[in-house]
Amino acid sequence: MPGLHDTIAQRLQQAFDTVEPGADPVLRPSTRPGVDFQANGAIALARRLGTTPAEVASKVVAAAQLEGICAAVTAAPQGFVNLTLDDAFLARRVEEQAGDGRLGVRPAGGPLRVVVDYASPNVAKEMHAGHLRSAIIGDCLCRTLAFAGHSVRRENHIGDWGTPFGMLIEHLVDLGEEQAAHELSVGDLDAFYRQARAGFDASPEMQERSRRRVVLLQSGDAETLRLWRVLVDASLAYFDEVNAKLGLLLTRADIVGESHFNPLLPDVVRALDSAGLLVDSEGARCVFPPGFTNREGEPLPLIVQKSDEGYGYAATDLAALRERFGTLGLDLALYVVGAPQAQHLEMCFAVAAEAGWIPPGKRAVHVPFGSVLGADRKMLRSRSGASVKLVDLLDESVARAAAIVAEKNPSLDPAESAGVARMVGIGAVKYADLSTDRVRDYVFDWDRMLSFDGNTAPYVQYARVRCLSIFRRGEIDPAPYASGRVPVVLGEGVERALAVSLLGFAPAVAGVLDTWSPHRLCSYLFELAGVFTTFFETCPVLKAAIPAVRDSRLVLCALTAAVLGRGLDLLGIEAPERM
Ligand code: ARG
Repeated sequence: MPGLHDTIAQRLQQAFDTVEPGADPVLRPSTRPGVDFQANGAIALARRLGTTPAEVASKVVAAAQLEGICAAVTAAPQGFVNLTLDDAFLARRVEEQAGDGRLGVRPAGGPLRVVVDYASPNVAKEMHAGHLRSAIIGDCLCRTLAFAGHSVRRENHIGDWGTPFGMLIEHLVDLGEEQAAHELSVGDLDAFYRQARAGFDASPEMQERSRRRVVLLQSGDAETLRLWRVLVDASLAYFDEVNAKLGLLLTRADIVGESHFNPLLPDVVRALDSAGLLVDSEGARCVFPPGFTNREGEPLPLIVQKSDEGYGYAATDLAALRERFGTLGLDLALYVVGAPQAQHLEMCFAVAAEAGWIPPGKRAVHVPFGSVLGADRKMLRSRSGASVKLVDLLDESVARAAAIVAEKNPSLDPAESAGVARMVGIGAVKYADLSTDRVRDYVFDWDRMLSFDGNTAPYVQYARVRCLSIFRRGEIDPAPYASGRVPVVLGEGVERALAVSLLGFAPAVAGVLDTWSPHRLCSYLFELAGVFTTFFETCPVLKAAIPAVRDSRLVLCALTAAVLGRGLDLLGIEAPERM
């Protein structure tokens, strides 16, 4: 079944076509009372045709074939075409959605093979808020893409290779393997890295050892690789812990770190060279992709091989692009990486395109995001001024949620209460991240993200709990109400509003994938939860006088619970049964 929005858009397109073929109807949900959708396209079209918007709008209204779909289609004097859906049509669509396991979201027509490059922390370095954002946003995109029917490959492009590893391995040797592994796996990565750095900066002897160690690592010396593995494994243990706390989809099998690409780098250089793209610049081997210049207007180089023969971050990313589109034959690569790396990624994409590594019709897309700020509106820091440890942040969120849950619902037994606190605490952090337009910075604010009011995880989770509580209180099995066979009747205005909102789920999911913007799903869930709350407070369900009305309202409750639950799931947020 085509989505509601699509059906109306298609009919209106036909009507606009009679005025000017191909004119965009600009269909939007309407906030006017009594109006469900409005088409604003007449205004621009009138300007083009040199006539009045009202004139165009009335032609559209005359041509629109919306019988059985709309109860009213009218032209406003300003040129808006206002559409009011037919109650019976609306009711049938809600019944269909209630009985549809996909809740009205059609599987993608041309499924894509997509790789999502996300999380991507660095070995022996603290994960920072940027990695947290990447993990949360990337996971949501993976879930939403999969739900929409695309095939998804997750890649955790961890930083596990390169010159700093000479220094890190020497520090490991100095510290003793056991001690080092302990520090790294409990998440004291910053201290480890800082000490290694300090030792390196202070001692020429350490610098010399580190240099020799890099050579050994590059040449595949067995003992050096073993020590490198100790560093990597200890860090992975820490990443696993963070991933588990966050409930990410990522597993060890998704790790395709920088080291994976190391053997492919010489061939990247060879291929760029034979394509005539390599330029020697001060001893380094570079590509100058067209269109990238510095502030002085000079062409910017992408350094592929440094003057000391070492390969950098860019070479690895070029190898990754080659593998993703070439070897793996994927269609789309999403890079969920902070905004500061925009130029690096755009340059890599441009070079790969020049080299012919991104076949026509395939796309590499940077999905950037802003920073997480503390209450002082500066980059998030702990009280001591050090960068915040992610596990601590997550643990604190759960602890704060536990206090709130204990106060709101003291009747929950301790085990259930702890589970709810975890879902609320972790959900709140994720939701706060996902609900802001990702390109913007956001302030990490416990009170706001854990509030039961506003566009927050607890608010949406709680709305779902209220839907479910009706069935529990009435001792009613919800299954028949999710079958699509119980008739829906829309009497009250707020029932109608709830029906329209429920049907907005498919466009909201499409919106996420349109612009890689999870906040569009959050805004939708927030709106739905709000409409449901008004319905819940004004329309008796179990006490409805007429049995058919009671049954119809139970369908609305069951469907709202399903949509809120599925929506939260796509965000990567768990939904408690009670709270
Ligand atoms: N490890 C990098 C960092 O911490 C992020 C990697 C992003 N992915 C990529 N393919 N470059 O900044």
